[in-house]
Amino acid sequence: MITVRTIPELRAAIAAHPGTGRPGKGRPAFVPTMGNLHDGHIALVRQARPLGDVLVASIFVNRLQFLPHEDFDSYPRTWEADCAKLEAAGCDIVFAPRESDLYPEPQTFKLQPDPQLADILEGHFRPGFFTGVCTVVMKLFSAVFFASGGGTAVFGKKDYQQLMVIRRMVQQFALPVEVVAGETARADDGLALSSRNGYLSTAERAQAVQLSAALRALAQAAQAPGAPPLAALEQQALQTLAQQGWAPDYLTVRQRHDLQPPAAGAAAGTLVALGAARLGSTRLIDNLEF
Ligand code: PAF
Repeated sequence: MITVRTIPELRAAIAAHPGTGRPGKGRPAFVPTMGNLHDGHIALVRQARPLGDVLVASIFVNRLQFLPHEDFDSYPRTWEADCAKLEAAGCDIVFAPRESDLYPEPQTFKLQPDPQLADILEGHFRPGFFTGVCTVVMKLFSAVFFASGGGTAVFGKKDYQQLMVIRRMVQQFALPVEVVAGETARADDGLALSSRNGYLSTAERAQAVQLSAALRALAQAAQAPGAPPLAALEQQALQTLAQQGWAPDYLTVRQRHDLQPPAAGAAAGTLVALGAARLGSTRLIDNLEF
């Protein structure tokens, strides 16, 4: 596994990689990350391994997707442990730009994602978040796929709205990138693995499973015959979580494909329950397809 810092170095390393036996002909499989890798990330890397000739992972904590009061400065940076895990998972190239490598001049051009998809849910509570995500992902895609003419990128379903936004971006800009979804990895008690779980105290960690439990209860209630209106079920779910000591931002049922409220009589297998809530000072998100 090699590490590269700059976009020209990355393009040269991909072109030189003998993945197909024909340097310059390999198609990358790509997993973008912000580091502090856990088993969920590594599952995405393993999933990506057979999807390309050369496997690239990026580690870059992207300032553009953090609000001023958020945890950009304290976001855990665990470089050596991350590299060991990536190497063991079969990664060929780690792209780890310094800020000055990815943004050598202020990034004054930014991507404005569709507000109907990106200004709701996470985008409502974290304004500008998806502008930051799309801008960096477009730049990473340009760095990884430009020379090879395209390839495959793997994104986790844990960040469900992010996956949908990136899919829409790829479709609308006709990018030669196949976006593949990876299932959410969970701890034994059901808590979705997340870099931010490390912020939880022992007591909070024991309680944290309540978010996925609330989403499961909401999904079950929504599917029950003669269920009350969704708005009432969502309100009840918010109240339950609040009574357990959380500060919920949203708990809601949406159509998977556009994250809008479901049409009447929506078929089973087309919906997703999504939630975000703060436990102490840690904000967690999760979702459940049903
Ligand atoms: O999901 C993440 O870790 C980040 O949002 C991503 C896709 C690496 C962009 O910074």
